[in-house]
Amino acid sequence: MTTLKLDNIKACVFDAYGTLFDVNAAAREEQAALGAQWEEIANNWRFKQLQYTWLRSLQKRHVDFWQVTGDALDFALNTSGVDDPELRTRLMDLYLKLSAYPEVKPMLETLNGAGIKCAILSNGTPKMLAAAVANAGIADLLAGSYSIEEVGIYKPDPSVYQMAVDQLGVKPSEISFQSSNSWDAYAAKAFGFNVVWCNRFGQADERLPGKPDGQITDLSQLPPIVGAA
Ligand code: LAC
Repeated sequence: MTTLKLDNIKACVFDAYGTLFDVNAAAREEQAALGAQWEEIANNWRFKQLQYTWLRSLQKRHVDFWQVTGDALDFALNTSGVDDPELRTRLMDLYLKLSAYPEVKPMLETLNGAGIKCAILSNGTPKMLAAAVANAGIADLLAGSYSIEEVGIYKPDPSVYQMAVDQLGVKPSEISFQSSNSWDAYAAKAFGFNVVWCNRFGQADERLPGKPDGQITDLSQLPPIVGAA
């Protein structure tokens, strides 16, 4: 448990996938159809999805996150020998309704109660984010859901992090950014945010610029760090 304390935080900005929403939920819900390899498919799906965002940004050949997510799912299903178009459609539909981690809503309520603005900053398309937020019932707790579609390049391009500063109208030093994706956490710190890495799975430190200010294992631990409890 961390004793980290961040001062003068006016806004908390959250990554979406893996941080607020469980990216494995879609494959888990279809585990009866996917069989014992459901976890391998979920892992390949997620890793390929991220890899495609980085590669497309480097190539300057952007397509949106819905397309990337579908391409990555096709790769993952193909790798595991699954050829089932209806199952593919169901998995994509489920990706629009990924469950939020159980602590997310009460944590956002606590931050809102303390006058701290909350927002999402994500690779997801506006439509994907709106669906996930509505499904989790957290729309009223968010000042905004900012999609990288606004800048047309994926995380960790610095222009993505700048978007949160511009949208919220607060300084980077007044923002605490939370991500479960280590590379996202490090890049946000290198950009200039305060960063709390929600290290849900006990991953090792990255060897990248921007060591986060601290780590937590789930988001229920965030409010006291930012002075909200
Ligand atoms: C996002 C990915 C990185 O929501 O999880 O931006």
